[in-house]
Amino acid sequence: MKLTIVGTGYVGLVTGVCLASIGHSVMCVDVDQEKISQLQAGRVPFFEPGLEELLAQQIREDRLAFTVDHEVAFAQAEVIFIAVGTPQGIDGLPDLRALIEVARSIGRTVDHDVIVVIKSTVPVGTNHFLSQIIAEQLLHPVSIQLASNPEFLREGSAVYDTFHGDRIVIGAEDEAVAHTLATIYQSMHIPILHTDIRSAEMIKYSSNAFLATKISFINEIANLCERLGATIEDVARGMGMDQRIGEKFLRAGIGYGGSCFPKDVKALLGMADLSGYPFQILQAVERVNRKQQMLLIEKATKRLGKLRGKRVALLGLAFKPDTDDMREAPSLAIAGALLELGAQVVGYDPVSMGNARYFLPSQVELLTRPEQALEGADAAFILTEWEEFTLPTFAPLLLQMKIPVVFDGRNCLDASALSELGIEYHPIGRGM
Ligand code: UGA
Repeated sequence: MKLTIVGTGYVGLVTGVCLASIGHSVMCVDVDQEKISQLQAGRVPFFEPGLEELLAQQIREDRLAFTVDHEVAFAQAEVIFIAVGTPQGIDGLPDLRALIEVARSIGRTVDHDVIVVIKSTVPVGTNHFLSQIIAEQLLHPVSIQLASNPEFLREGSAVYDTFHGDRIVIGAEDEAVAHTLATIYQSMHIPILHTDIRSAEMIKYSSNAFLATKISFINEIANLCERLGATIEDVARGMGMDQRIGEKFLRAGIGYGGSCFPKDVKALLGMADLSGYPFQILQAVERVNRKQQMLLIEKATKRLGKLRGKRVALLGLAFKPDTDDMREAPSLAIAGALLELGAQVVGYDPVSMGNARYFLPSQVELLTRPEQALEGADAAFILTEWEEFTLPTFAPLLLQMKIPVVFDGRNCLDASALSELGIEYHPIGRGM
């Protein structure tokens, strides 16, 4: 089919590339000329394993093209996917301006019947609101049907997730629309759930909110394990073997970050408040997450005394491994709090140094090798479980520190290897 994707951010680009790779003819459109030029040259403007290779192949085989021109992009489209950003607005709810702009443009431009699919994460009711905007702008007597098709891919494994998703949710009031959308994904052999539009919008928020809840829950259990002498990994394993609970998203640490969970939790809290039904569990999830981000600072203060003047090395700055994304990364809150306490903060990340420079306060010194960050440090904080920190070559680097004391916010280091080297190790949630 002829598909157009509006927005070449994470969701838009991955969707475009993957849909092209299963044989559709895909046109991606974005307002950012520089980004479009990069993409036309086969370069992905962010770090995502496997995406660039797949992109280049689709361009070569003539199934994928890029443009900044809406008229060109919409001219042939049978289905238009909207995947523009919905960043957090000042009231905590998503800022829909980019989406509204696209809806207006579709109304003004499209001269044939088309299905418009919202992939962006939007508050419940937004699809209906957008369909009114499109209808107001229509210049031609055409039928434009809206559908919701939320995205469940994770950064760092976005391509894999697209082909191996647990479900594809299609929110559509019209059977024929749902059927057309299902056909697009048919060859991926992923179970499809057809719901009404509002439920599809809600599934996205409640899924992310539930996963965030799992994380805050296991983090609270980990904090209790420390006090009661239990070991979080064993506890999580034992819980996860119960299929009703499931083993995933039970990794304790310094809390969740990224461009999705913090924003979507806030948005759902905002929607709940507006509807007159404050979401009490989710309020606690957010509170626990904020507290958890400060855990390593508490542990370090307990062990080393006041952190004023102490050199703290932050290892891993991205919100999780295999991405260069720094949005809402725990490292931001941790670096800010350490600076406020008067600590000297240095940082290292194998991939996100460019973004880190942009997001972190200028007082944080960024170094290009872990051993430089560790040299003379009073404490090391592991903030992202990058693979290189788990290799046997990493532990000896910690001996560069003034006193080798490591606070592991991701429980990813090998405790016995560290102990053999005489390195003091403080993981999360291990009471014994
Ligand atoms: C998340 C969801 O997992 C995707 O399904 C969803 O499509 C996406 O948001 C989105 O809404 O676009 P993502 O933000 O890429 O994906 O990252 P996750 O792998 O879910 O991790 C989120 C955060 O939770 C990270 O900071 C990670 O370190 C943390 N986490 C995850 C834990 O602390 N413990 C865990 O057990 C799992």
